[in-house]
Amino acid sequence: MRRFLLLAHRVPVDGAFTLNDLAGGGGRMDEIARCVSTAFTISNDLRRDTELTVLFGSEPPPRSRRIDIYGARLRLLNPDERSTAALLKNALIRSHNVPGIVESSPGMVVGPSQPLEDLARFASQPGCWWLVEGGAPLASLAPTSDVAAVLSDPTDPTPPEREILERSGAVSIRVGPRSLRSSQVLDVVQNVLDGASEAVPVDRTPR
Ligand SMILES: C[S@@+](CC[C@H](N)C(=O)[O-])C[C@H]1O[C@@H](n2cnc3c(N)ncnc32)[C@H](O)[C@@H]1O
Repeated sequence: MRRFLLLAHRVPVDGAFTLNDLAGGGGRMDEIARCVSTAFTISNDLRRDTELTVLFGSEPPPRSRRIDIYGARLRLLNPDERSTAALLKNALIRSHNVPGIVESSPGMVVGPSQPLEDLARFASQPGCWWLVEGGAPLASLAPTSDVAAVLSDPTDPTPPEREILERSGAVSIRVGPRSLRSSQVLDVVQNVLDGASEAVPVDRTPR
């Protein structure tokens, strides 16, 4: 299973933004939507072995929200950024002032969040990765097909988030020498994990 947690710092938690201004009034919802797209979409299919949690922390609890997306039962996700942003916006609107969790569309569950507690719980999973410029090279890790990994949106983690990540024992990993967009990082990681899962032992027995 591939589990990702994305920190979204500026998206309005009540979904009060227009799809015509995802980068501005939407608080970079354009990039959040691209992350959802790159986490789950492949050519003509969706990745069923992937889960993504987005923590929307632009306002403190009780207004903060989280959306959990489960590839195993995800439907209605198309590859384009605008319709993905619409699904996420709809989830936030459905959850506004609602104390419990709601499945706003198949495979997309929204509810209140304590973002720092949720981050701490996720990051304390054994072997969790913190995807960050300046981490250890991804290539230095043994191939694996299961992963839990945290990354941030275009805003770097806040000091309290950094402190949690540093204390959690999460392993800092970089996917390459350049600072990439969050969605590009997810593309790279998914591709590397795909490679690890198809790796088969080579028979080197002389014939
Ligand atoms: C656009 S970057 C963050 C902003 C950037 N630090 C800046 O200077 O404006 C978005 C996120 O992608 C991840 N990221 C970017 N480049 C990375 C890399 N080379 N390796 C691992 N993660 C990376 C980090 O989680 C980062 O917070």
